[in-house]
Amino acid sequence: MTQTYQHRPVLLKEVLDGLAVQADGIYLDGTFGRGGHAAAILELLGPQGRLYAIDKDPEAVRVAQDRFGRDARFHIQRGTFAMLGELAREHGIAGRISGVLLDLGVSSPQLDDARRGFSFLKDGPLDMRMDPDYGVSAAQWLAVAAEGEIVRVLQVYGEERFARRIARAIVQTRAEQPILTTHQLVELIAAAVPTRERNKSPATRSFQALRIHINQELQDLESALEQVVEVLAPGGRLAVISFHSLEDRMVKRFMRRESHGEEMPLDLPVTGGPAPGRLRVLGKAVQAGADECAENPRARSAMLRLAERLA
Ligand SMILES: C[S@@+](CC[C@H](N)C(=O)[O-])C[C@H]1O[C@@H](n2cnc3c(N)ncnc32)[C@H](O)[C@@H]1O
Repeated sequence: MTQTYQHRPVLLKEVLDGLAVQADGIYLDGTFGRGGHAAAILELLGPQGRLYAIDKDPEAVRVAQDRFGRDARFHIQRGTFAMLGELAREHGIAGRISGVLLDLGVSSPQLDDARRGFSFLKDGPLDMRMDPDYGVSAAQWLAVAAEGEIVRVLQVYGEERFARRIARAIVQTRAEQPILTTHQLVELIAAAVPTRERNKSPATRSFQALRIHINQELQDLESALEQVVEVLAPGGRLAVISFHSLEDRMVKRFMRRESHGEEMPLDLPVTGGPAPGRLRVLGKAVQAGADECAENPRARSAMLRLAERLA
C-alpha cells in the first residue's frame, strides 16, 4: 500500500531565492527525496521549463512517479547524483542547466522507517543503504571489515573519539554472534563508550559514520562537484545543503577553488595573474532561522551554499 510521509523541505525559500528560478529554465534536483523542493520549483516553471530529478532510493523514485509522473516537464532517474554529467549529456542539456540543487544526506522518511536501519532510535535490520539493491548493508560490512578499517570509518566520517573501543567491541561481538539489528549495535556502542554527552545517544556518531561509508556519500559529492560546472549554463546556479561539517567543508573548498577566492597555488606566475574562476560564490553560507529550527529540528544543522557559473 502507498504510504504517505510528511517531509518538510529545509531552507525552501532560501533555496528558491538562491536558484532564482526562471519560468523557462532547466533545473536538476539531484536529491529528490519526497519532492518538497522539486514541487516548489515545478510551481515556478512555465510550460517550457524542465525539472530533471535523481534519487538513489527506489521509494523516492516511486513517490516522484506518483506525484509528478504525468507532468511532461518532469523527469526522474534512479541512481546517484554522481551521474549528473551523464544525465545531462544523454538529455542534451549539458551546459544549459539553469540550476542544480543537492540537498544532501538522508530524508526524514528514510530515518523514520525502521526497516531501512538508518535510525538508532528504532529497532530494525542494520541496512542503511539508500539504494537497498546496491552495495553491501551495514550489517554485511560490519561482519567482514577489518578492525582497523572500522576504526578509520568511525574516526573519519563520525569524528568518534572512542572509535578504537567501539571497533574492538564490534569485532569481539561478531566472533560470537552476527550483528544484524540497529539495537544490537546501539547496545554494543553504549557499553563500549565510557562517557555520555548530554541529549546525545552514544551511537549518534557511529551511525552517521556507517551511513556515510555504506552510501559512499563523500565520494558521490566529490564526483558530482567535479562535473557540475560543466553542466551549468552561464549564469546557472548551484545550491548545496549539507548537514555535517565534512560535506560542508568539501562544498566550501570546491566553491572557493572554482571562484579562485582562496587556496590558489603559491607558484602562480606573477605575470598575467590567475585565470578567471568558473564560479562566483553568492554570499556566505545560509542557515535556517529560529522559527524553522523550532518547527523542524533537522534544519538546525543545515548549511546552504550558493554559487553562480560565470560566462
Ligand atoms: C535530504 S533528502 C532530500 C529531500 C528533498 N529535497 C525534499 O524536499 O523532499 C536526501 C535524498 O537524497 C537522496 N540521496 C542522497 N545521496 C544521494 C546520491 N548520492 N545520489 C542520489 N540520491 C541521493 C536520498 O536517498 C534522499 O532521498
